[in-house]
Amino acid sequence: MLELPVNDALRLLQLQPAHAPALYALINASRKNLRKFLPWVDYNTNEEHSLRFIELMLRKTDEQDAVAFGIWENGRLCGVIDLHGWDHPLQKAEIGYWLGDGEQGKGIATAACKTIIQYAFSQLRLNKVEIRFVLQNEKSAKIPIKLGFTKEGILRQSAKLHGQYVDMVVMGMLRQDWKP
Ligand SMILES: CC(C)(COP(=O)(O)OP(=O)(O)OC[C@H]1O[C@@H](n2cnc3c(N)ncnc32)[C@H](O)[C@@H]1OP(=O)(O)O)[C@@H](O)C(=O)NCCC(=O)NCCS
Repeated sequence: MLELPVNDALRLLQLQPAHAPALYALINASRKNLRKFLPWVDYNTNEEHSLRFIELMLRKTDEQDAVAFGIWENGRLCGVIDLHGWDHPLQKAEIGYWLGDGEQGKGIATAACKTIIQYAFSQLRLNKVEIRFVLQNEKSAKIPIKLGFTKEGILRQSAKLHGQYVDMVVMGMLRQDWKP
């Protein structure tokens, strides 16, 4: 199992089948907030769905396509961060993240992002990481801005939320520009 320390209290642990109950409990407790910007939340309605997600991500890790970590603070699952859409010829991947209710506003997502970016550049030897978020998702936007990402553009009507097309912002960081 991959494990990345973030700081004294936080660590990233690659999601494992045994984490499914904790993962589902966190999603279920945070459903109202998460569903605002994450379309998959409405389809995750029991522990089996979280288990299948974890198994899918483990298969994708074997195929070098993605890797998903739980964000743990002193033994408590706070959220998830992942790398997905790994483009091998371009050495590029996208970062996704979410935190459960009660875990936001503490700097956890930003700290976890720093750790996964460092992992992407130094261990996976990626050349670029991207963060994509719905244009209206101001909380998500703050993270790449704080980390010095460059805004690269807007993908018009590139996601669907609750039946409506929404625009996505793309922000990117190049390995040459990353200051650990
Ligand atoms: C997007 C999301 C992960 C951001 O969470 P967050 O708690 O705002 O992000 P952070 O963990 O980095 O916390 C930053 C905030 O914590 C506060 N904070 C407290 N202590 C801090 C510390 N030591 N370091 C940094 N920030 C700290 C800051 O004030 C900051 O708020 P500000 O930028 O308004 O000043 C969260 O809102 C979420 O899960 N949303 C729902 C799912 C979602 O939209 N995911 C993203 C899809 S693209």
